[in-house]
Amino acid sequence: MKKILDIITAKMQQAFVDAGYEASYGQVTVSNRPDLCEYQCNGALSAAKQYKCAPIQIANAVVEKLNADDYSMIEAVMPGFINLKLSGHFLQAYLEEMRTAPDFGVTKLGEGKTIVVDYGGANVAKPLHIGHLRPAIIGEALKRLHKFFGFNTIGDIHLGDWGLQMGLIIAELQERQPELPYFDPDFTGEYPAEAPFTLSDLEELYPTASAKKTDPVFAEKAHTATFELQQGRRGYRAIWQHIMNISLPDLERIYNTLNVHYEKWLGESDADPYIPGMVADLKERGFAVLSEGAWVVPVAEETDKKEVPPMILVKSDGSSIYATTDLATILQRMQDWNPDKMLYVTDKRQNLHFEQVFRAARKSGIIGAATEMEHVGHGTMNGADGKPFKTRDGGVLRLEQLISDMTDFVRTKVMENKIVSDDEVEETTRKIAMAALKYGDLSNQPTKDYNFDMERFAAFEGNTGPYILYTIVRIKSILSRYGAWEQLPIAAPANPHAKDLMIAITKFTPALESALKSSAPNLICAYIYELAGCVNKFYHETRILSEEDETLKAGYISLIALAKGILETAIDLLGFSAPEKM
Ligand code: ARG
Repeated sequence: MKKILDIITAKMQQAFVDAGYEASYGQVTVSNRPDLCEYQCNGALSAAKQYKCAPIQIANAVVEKLNADDYSMIEAVMPGFINLKLSGHFLQAYLEEMRTAPDFGVTKLGEGKTIVVDYGGANVAKPLHIGHLRPAIIGEALKRLHKFFGFNTIGDIHLGDWGLQMGLIIAELQERQPELPYFDPDFTGEYPAEAPFTLSDLEELYPTASAKKTDPVFAEKAHTATFELQQGRRGYRAIWQHIMNISLPDLERIYNTLNVHYEKWLGESDADPYIPGMVADLKERGFAVLSEGAWVVPVAEETDKKEVPPMILVKSDGSSIYATTDLATILQRMQDWNPDKMLYVTDKRQNLHFEQVFRAARKSGIIGAATEMEHVGHGTMNGADGKPFKTRDGGVLRLEQLISDMTDFVRTKVMENKIVSDDEVEETTRKIAMAALKYGDLSNQPTKDYNFDMERFAAFEGNTGPYILYTIVRIKSILSRYGAWEQLPIAAPANPHAKDLMIAITKFTPALESALKSSAPNLICAYIYELAGCVNKFYHETRILSEEDETLKAGYISLIALAKGILETAIDLLGFSAPEKM
């Protein structure tokens, strides 16, 4: 479906032509003076220079050629603006088309294209902490948005499952239980199917081992274990597999509570088989060069304002690093999926890393010109006081703890306000808590830092997730009291608030397209906040269910039903949903 601005711009351009002027002057924009009009065209002002006459003369001539049916107001005003208000008839027809079109008439810009969204980035065997919240929920929203536009989307968690944390655990386990067969280099039998540790052991093993990193002897052991694991030492691979088997279901469980779901659970380890061939190839073709014993890929460009150091491919001790696995992962993705785009969501402190990796991939031809690379570097979530988020004893807060704190806070509210019956408390609480948490985050520009403020995020009023849910629930309740509403056609606006709401609804596609283009879920939040405001204004100013004129009433109902559909679709893109009651 065409966007309103495109439709009325085309009509305006035709009017310019009909009046004897060039079409290009007919660009229409949303009005910057909403008190005067809804849309405006300033083309007569620029055209005046070319045609050497007064702008108002042109504006008057153009206005003559516009179709009066489309507008409730057409005005040429000094010095030469054309001000427009849409007619009720035009809006009615447009919204009726939106109502009946699949996905409200959004143009499927991504049809036939594949995008890999790399987000989440959990590290196996380490508990998820609050730093993992943003990449998970921003990435999930961007993935859903792309899917909505018709992209074939592959969400890949890109687990950190190949690094030092694995070596630390292996070294720690060896100190505690050296008799285990995994440590016996001569052992050739089958390793036990059962792991020698449980999830809670693991949760203790890793931090203990990590704290011992300062001990040079232990650190050396951990590094060696990491290296040997990567070289394929059998016993270590078996321990690694145990860690994966225990850790992954737990990660998945937590991501599930966030309504974050991955198509692929690949990780750094899956890139490993690609590394030897890739390194050999980069050396052979001269992209990798020796520098102080390490193999590096120089990626500096003449136009660089800041120094971009070479990407380290192989360290002098022969081991590969984070960048190596990322480059090899790109190779794997190109071979397996040949995507049109790869989008990464991580902390913005990794900006340089991705710049280096993308450049290395580009210049070596691992990706071709047809594949777009984008890194969305997000800012930090701080505490309500603006300082880094810390637990009382100065540690890093676990993600699970954050979720359960928010859930407890919301549950108290739900129970105090006696919103739902006892058996619905949990479900309602969960939905509101998710909305509070996610909207609180997603309503910020991804790149910016923000302060986590439980009370503000969970408020039922203001620019919050619960406020959006509340608006949806309000509509649901009216609809359920009305009866069957699904087939009701859209009517022309019966009052100014209805008209404002209708215009807000027409901005759905433009808002989503902007969010898609700039990888900015915050634009979806800003849009639904505006839309919810229009719904509530309309609700307060209009007698809906008590309207006696049945035709009028049906028109109101169909309008709020459409608003509900749009709000529900939008929050689904953001990754949360509305309860029945609130
Ligand atoms: N595991 C990484 C970390 O904790 C994030 C991974 C992000 N994705 C990537 N392809 N590098 O920092």
